[in-house]
Amino acid sequence: MLDPQWTAVDRALAEWLVPEDEALEAALDAATRAGLPAIHVSPTQGKWLQLIAAAIGARRILEIGTLAGYSTIWLARALPPGGRLVSLEIDPGRAALARENLERAGLGSVVEVRVGAALASLERLREEQAAPFDFVFIDADKVHCAEYLDRSTALARRGAVIVVDNVVRNGRVVDAESDDPNVIGVRRMLERLSADPRLDASALQTVGAKGYDGMVMAVVRSIG
Ligand code: SAH
Ligand code: DHB
Ligand code: MG
Repeated sequence: MLDPQWTAVDRALAEWLVPEDEALEAALDAATRAGLPAIHVSPTQGKWLQLIAAAIGARRILEIGTLAGYSTIWLARALPPGGRLVSLEIDPGRAALARENLERAGLGSVVEVRVGAALASLERLREEQAAPFDFVFIDADKVHCAEYLDRSTALARRGAVIVVDNVVRNGRVVDAESDDPNVIGVRRMLERLSADPRLDASALQTVGAKGYDGMVMAVVRSIG
């Protein structure tokens, strides 16, 4: 279901608009060597997220789902001096690799990778009364993505932008009979989102190097 044209166009767009970078490439190489799945955002998506975060002047970014820190590097580079990114990852080995990749990118002191189930880490952030986040990228397991959206909304400032990855998955999102826990999880998240007065949202379907998928973008209207 991956049209070669999508990959070719993505590569061409990246050549025009998304300059190659040693730290990002090294992060992907390290992830491949460690046998991690190649489910990082694509270069064009990574820079897209970076531009949104930079455009809203984000100073505090929350990421749910670190993997090797590839999207983390894109996002952390949107931050002004003194900005901070917290990224949540359940797998300690992945978190360790991400920290190495971030260190190599010169972002070791900007990013904090927290190990643990994201639900627990989000609860911990609430208990700590963490300063509100300006931008959130939700990209961990899809089973809990409704909870991730709910809890990160509570941790975000008014006007914050929340992006949720992988909401289309080859169009399977419209299958109300699906028994795939990922599809069920994404559908639950969209149901809740449609009824959440705190959030104003839209979504775009995408094709590219990662196939046919899509992202939700939500803006926090008011703190509920
Ligand atoms: N954002 C990354 C890709 C993340 S892949 C990028 O684009 O570069 C999803 C990650 O979420 C995986 O590393 C996986 O280990 C992690 N994950 C899965 N379930 C989780 C959970 N319950 N809590 C925190 N992280 C989780
Ligand atoms: C998968 C997860 C992702 O976050 C993604 O962007 C693509 C694929 C997966 O688990 O298959
Ligand atoms: Mg993803």
